[in-house]
Amino acid sequence: MSDAFVSLTDLTLSYGQTVAVPNLNLDIVEGELIALLGPSGCGKTTTMRAIAGLMPPAQGRIVIDGADVTRVPANKRGIGLVFQSYALFPHLSAFENVAFGLRLQKLPQAQIRAKTEAGMATVGLTGFEARKPGEMSGGQQQRLALARSLVMQPKVLLLDEPLSNLDARLRLEMRNELQRVQKETGITMVFVTHDQSEALALADRIVLMKDGKIEQLGTPAELYARPDTAFAADFMGFENIFRVEGDALVSDSGRLPLGYQASAQILAWRPGGVGVGAGPHRGRVIASSFAGGHREYVLDSALGQIKADAPIDVPEVPIGQDVAFDLPQDTARPLAA
Ligand SMILES: Nc1ncnc2c1ncn2[C@@H]1O[C@H](COP(=O)(O)OP(=O)(O)O)[C@@H](O)[C@H]1O
Ligand SMILES: [Mg+2]
Repeated sequence: MSDAFVSLTDLTLSYGQTVAVPNLNLDIVEGELIALLGPSGCGKTTTMRAIAGLMPPAQGRIVIDGADVTRVPANKRGIGLVFQSYALFPHLSAFENVAFGLRLQKLPQAQIRAKTEAGMATVGLTGFEARKPGEMSGGQQQRLALARSLVMQPKVLLLDEPLSNLDARLRLEMRNELQRVQKETGITMVFVTHDQSEALALADRIVLMKDGKIEQLGTPAELYARPDTAFAADFMGFENIFRVEGDALVSDSGRLPLGYQASAQILAWRPGGVGVGAGPHRGRVIASSFAGGHREYVLDSALGQIKADAPIDVPEVPIGQDVAFDLPQDTARPLAA
């Protein structure tokens, strides 16, 4: 691929005899923000470590900006790293934390000052130069860690679950901040997360991983609307996934005639795609919770649990009561087995 900035080719990554990532192929375009998404243990960090040069591949090739770096040591790859733990120097000021790498490069004082100030401005920390990390909030510390990497002008910035130590509100704030910084600086970023909404919100493209392999790769819109497998659909919020047999859905709990012919082996519905209050099926309400714009029901049905969202202006069905529901053809996502 000629337009790839980072190419992983036939990459196999092992810990001793254990293969964590078998034969990975991935091309990353210059300037894009790509998210590696997947459950714990699927090989996200391992892949990052290999790109960074912290783990020699058992097999395969890594090319960055036209150069084969497979055997180039970590500190010669032009890679920046931001991790969940900020790894800031607690005894140094914010300014000195950001300036640290530039001082190692023995740049002239004036340049160190200019670059450090620009880096701090980029992440919105102007005025915090004299603070110690311990005197800053979690979000500010994470931005400091980001500035420290940015001033080194890496070819690629790797971020491994950088937001997972922050509380919910800060996480959302930092999400926007990261996206802004990425667009502003144009730095190619690889972002690791196990949080589907984070990947959807931030990434230009998402690499959904399972057991060290790419399950599906696409834009957030593509993955959200058109997951191809049950695993991808589950990750993208299709909480009702059932096998199709003839004209019925089947689960471990039982069988439900659909009333229409499905042309897929598996069908999946988001809770919002399930109708409540009308339809050919019946279920018993076993949980009901207010979710702001809608109400979330869990129904016990012939298929086991059904997750269904109802509009908030429809009167609440009490727990324990039976209710009609619908699994409409037009909101079903067909999946491959
Ligand atoms: N140092 C290690 N030694 C042995 N196995 C490891 C080591 N680090 C990770 N693994 C294994 O490699 C697989 C991928 O791990 P990892 O890349 O950390 O996953 P993720 O970052 O997606 O949670 C897992 O099965 C994990 O148990
Ligand atoms: Mg990890």
